[in-house]
Amino acid sequence: MVPGARGGGALARAAGPGLLALLLTVCAPLRLQAEELGDGCGHLVTYQDSGTMTSKNYPGTYPNHTVCEKTITVPKGKRLILRLGDLDIESQTCASDYLLFTSSSDQYGPYCGSMTVPRELLLNTSEVTVRFESGSHISGRGFLLTYASSDHPDLITCLERASHYLKTEYSKFCPAGCRDVAGDISGNMVDGYRDTSLLCKAAVHAGIIADELGGQISVLQRKGISRYEGILANGVLSRDGSLSDKRFLFTSNGCSRSLSLDPDGQIRASSSWQSVNESGDQVHWSPGQARLQDQGPSWASGDSSSNHKPREWLEIDLGEKKKITGIRTTGSTQSNFNFYVKSFVMNFKNSNSKWKTYKGIVNNEEKVFQGNSNFRDPVQNNFIPPIVARYVRVVPQTWHQRIALKVELIGCQITQGNDSLVWRKTSQSTSVSTKKEDETITRPVPSGETSPGVNITTVAIPLVLLVVLVFAGMGIFAAFRKKKKKGSPYGSAEAQKTDCWKQIKYPFARHQSAEFTISYDNEKEMTQKLDLITSDMAG
Ligand SMILES: *[C@@H]1O[C@H](CO)[C@@H](O)[C@H](O)[C@H]1NC(C)=O
Ligand SMILES: *[C@@H]1O[C@H](CO)[C@@H](O)[C@H](O)[C@H]1NC(C)=O
Ligand SMILES: *[C@@H]1O[C@H](CO)[C@@H](O)[C@H](O)[C@H]1NC(C)=O
Ligand SMILES: *[C@@H]1O[C@H](CO)[C@@H](O)[C@H](O)[C@H]1NC(C)=O
Repeated sequence: MVPGARGGGALARAAGPGLLALLLTVCAPLRLQAEELGDGCGHLVTYQDSGTMTSKNYPGTYPNHTVCEKTITVPKGKRLILRLGDLDIESQTCASDYLLFTSSSDQYGPYCGSMTVPRELLLNTSEVTVRFESGSHISGRGFLLTYASSDHPDLITCLERASHYLKTEYSKFCPAGCRDVAGDISGNMVDGYRDTSLLCKAAVHAGIIADELGGQISVLQRKGISRYEGILANGVLSRDGSLSDKRFLFTSNGCSRSLSLDPDGQIRASSSWQSVNESGDQVHWSPGQARLQDQGPSWASGDSSSNHKPREWLEIDLGEKKKITGIRTTGSTQSNFNFYVKSFVMNFKNSNSKWKTYKGIVNNEEKVFQGNSNFRDPVQNNFIPPIVARYVRVVPQTWHQRIALKVELIGCQITQGNDSLVWRKTSQSTSVSTKKEDETITRPVPSGETSPGVNITTVAIPLVLLVVLVFAGMGIFAAFRKKKKKGSPYGSAEAQKTDCWKQIKYPFARHQSAEFTISYDNEKEMTQKLDLITSDMAG
């Protein structure tokens, strides 16, 4: 059906147990070597459920004589979906320039030249090795590949534009890592994006998904407007755009109201500045002037010294605990004072708790937000997951000339009784998140380690023994069911414990030739839906 697909297991079957022994001895060194073959790899972002990968210099010409070999995985028990956004390899024979996918049971490719390449491969495995090799050549962009687990059959690549779609409403899954892929977007989250914009990059810009995670987007297509205004948001710069026939917007859950407008909101700062204007009068740059919607100079810090020790802050008291999904900032807004904050971190706390720093989801490190690049234009950053707190502080890290800020917080009230919005302290000092997000983000993936017993015990201690017993019983039942589900169809969980074992085992155990399909099997039962992102904010 597809050129180049081969039953990789045939050879293994023929060779028999002798090969097994050989594989056992070479297995570990092989894997090590594979990880070093990265000189031909370009952009690479991987998260547990999806990712993006390109050849070096993409979309420029890939270098001569390079190899890029990476093993990509999704959680065990799920199947990999690979989508080629672009393939442009200068070769007709695939001898020295090619792209090849190898799973434990099958091989797809090699692909090159003007070969018809399937846009999407639905693999039988949760792991595949991508190998790209180049010889001597003149042109060729190489490749752009996105992948996701079979939980996301509506996966698109970073290169899809809204103009590719005809429907007025649709939902798609964006992989992690689209932010830094070359390609334009124009417009903004409020007025919409020109339909020629890249969908996933626009979703990162709009604060719908975090680039490190990817996620589901819901798109509405509307009639175009005469002009699209570009802004910097979430590290992506959108451009101004001219009239188009169509534009698109993202649907949000509505948690995108301006919060700093609240009259009971108080603003304090570590220090403030006073300047003297031309007529000899003092001009105050007090914290109260930090409201973005107010005219006049912004807040500015008293100390304009070097960037070495960031210790100034601007604090906003929202009066009560709120869900904060984003922040908009500007610099001084005064053309004769070229002051602005280039990067900042966010601290937050509630009435009786200590200050915490907002952290990234993936690496659990303090998250540094990209701030302004001039004194005038507003820049937006979104919090995924949202901050749920009463007090927040903007803590500038780097700035131009002097710290000067106007801010606007975006978010909504915490709806009582909506348990997806309950604020919970986590045991580590990770960022605060709603209960729902705690579940989706911290629960790794269906794995034997996720024991429902842990939570249950904590909750049950103060309760009556009977309740403990009932819950424990349910826990065991749930765990049992989970195990059963998880076991199929790729053999026992034990067999998947080590990659090495898996590599050896599969050539023998799984010999039927898998074909890639464009359709998807209905696997709802087998896999657990892990939607990592709840779109909190669309502006
Ligand atoms: C590869 O090498 C050839 C011959 O040396 C050269 O003409 C070509 O420009 C090189 N290609 C790239 C992409 O550097
Ligand atoms: C200086 O500041 C005072 C008081 O804020 C204001 O009335 C005056 O117009 C300012 N002068 C100039 C030249 O901006
Ligand atoms: C709770 O929150 C979710 C998502 O944030 C929302 O869809 C739902 O309507 C809310 N429920 C109530 C009762 O407010
Ligand atoms: C693919 O998976 C199915 C079960 O889902 C299995 O029966 C088949 O042998 C697998 N094919 C290969 C080539 O591993």
